[in-house]
Amino acid sequence: MSLLDVKDLRVEFTTPDGTVTAVNDLNFSLEPGETLGIVGESGSGKSQTVFAIMGLLAKNGIISGSAKFEGREILNLPEKELNHVRAEQIAMIFQDPMTSLNPYMKVSEQMMEVLTHHKGMSRKEAFEESVFMLDAVKIPDARARINMYPHEFSGGMRQRVMIAMALLCRPKLLIADEPTTALDVTIQAQIMQLLNELKAQFNTAIIMITHDLGVVAGSCDKVLVMYAGRTMEYGKVNDIFYTPSHPYTEGLLKSIPRLDTEHDVLPTIPGNPPNLLALPKGCAYQDRCHRVQAHCQQEQPQLIPFAGDRLRACFSDQGTW
Ligand SMILES: Nc1ncnc2c1ncn2[C@@H]1O[C@H](COP(=O)(O)OP(=O)(O)OP(=O)(O)O)[C@@H](O)[C@H]1O
Ligand SMILES: [Mg+2]
Repeated sequence: MSLLDVKDLRVEFTTPDGTVTAVNDLNFSLEPGETLGIVGESGSGKSQTVFAIMGLLAKNGIISGSAKFEGREILNLPEKELNHVRAEQIAMIFQDPMTSLNPYMKVSEQMMEVLTHHKGMSRKEAFEESVFMLDAVKIPDARARINMYPHEFSGGMRQRVMIAMALLCRPKLLIADEPTTALDVTIQAQIMQLLNELKAQFNTAIIMITHDLGVVAGSCDKVLVMYAGRTMEYGKVNDIFYTPSHPYTEGLLKSIPRLDTEHDVLPTIPGNPPNLLALPKGCAYQDRCHRVQAHCQQEQPQLIPFAGDRLRACFSDQGTW
């Protein structure tokens, strides 16, 4: 049994202009301790995928399909049961740490509250455990700094505090939605390194959401490449990197800065993602694709297995490698 098994997940939003299908029949699974990267440009449906799983969708969102956590359906759970899952089994960290930290409470109080409430710890036990977790995320002098307010930490340190909070109940799954986008490049690398170490220390599975394929390279086992709500390509990280198969994956790979070549301007995929309310007939990527064929404008390519355990939705020949 997988830790998380997502089948035919679909998220639709009702809007005055029509129905937006933000997530279109997504399938993926995650084993304990494994890291899955969900990659795609802005608007591709990455956040709505995990919001659906966490019960955090906006009110106009409708979910269908299935998401089983340790065999138990967690889609559309009643709020009370969902709170239990969210606090103790699946934790989430966001791009902006202030979305999960209360600016008016000392970090110590916020962390201890989680443990006294969900784990029934005494205040003393909760304090020690909170210091332990701040140490684990490498906050210097954690025992003293735990008594500070969130705004007294730098951006990178605040992100570490948020990771510590998320790990307090030792969740089996940590969902990180663009956890480093707001940070500068050096701090980004440190946070990614930290997440890798914590994954090993606590055997936490991670879903890492990012628009940057470079971020997933060093940290993920599997990658799901998303575009306009659909899976374009899904496979092991090394396969995706060394032998990308979907033209969209190739485009994303070309836009990663490389240390061995000089760039004046980093290539980006020409054009923009499509308007979900006016998707073209056939493949959603056709207008930007360097391998487009007449067929792509007529029919939606299905996600088809190839080379063993890989999947891709494309009519073109399998990659250029
Ligand atoms: N409440 C809503 N009503 C209508 N459409 C919505 C709503 N919430 C999200 N969407 C649409 O769903 C699509 C997917 O959004 P999502 O937030 O998952 O993108 P994303 O891949 O996380 O992008 P980003 O990298 O910018 O965070 C977008 O086109 C967005 O406009
Ligand atoms: Mg998002």
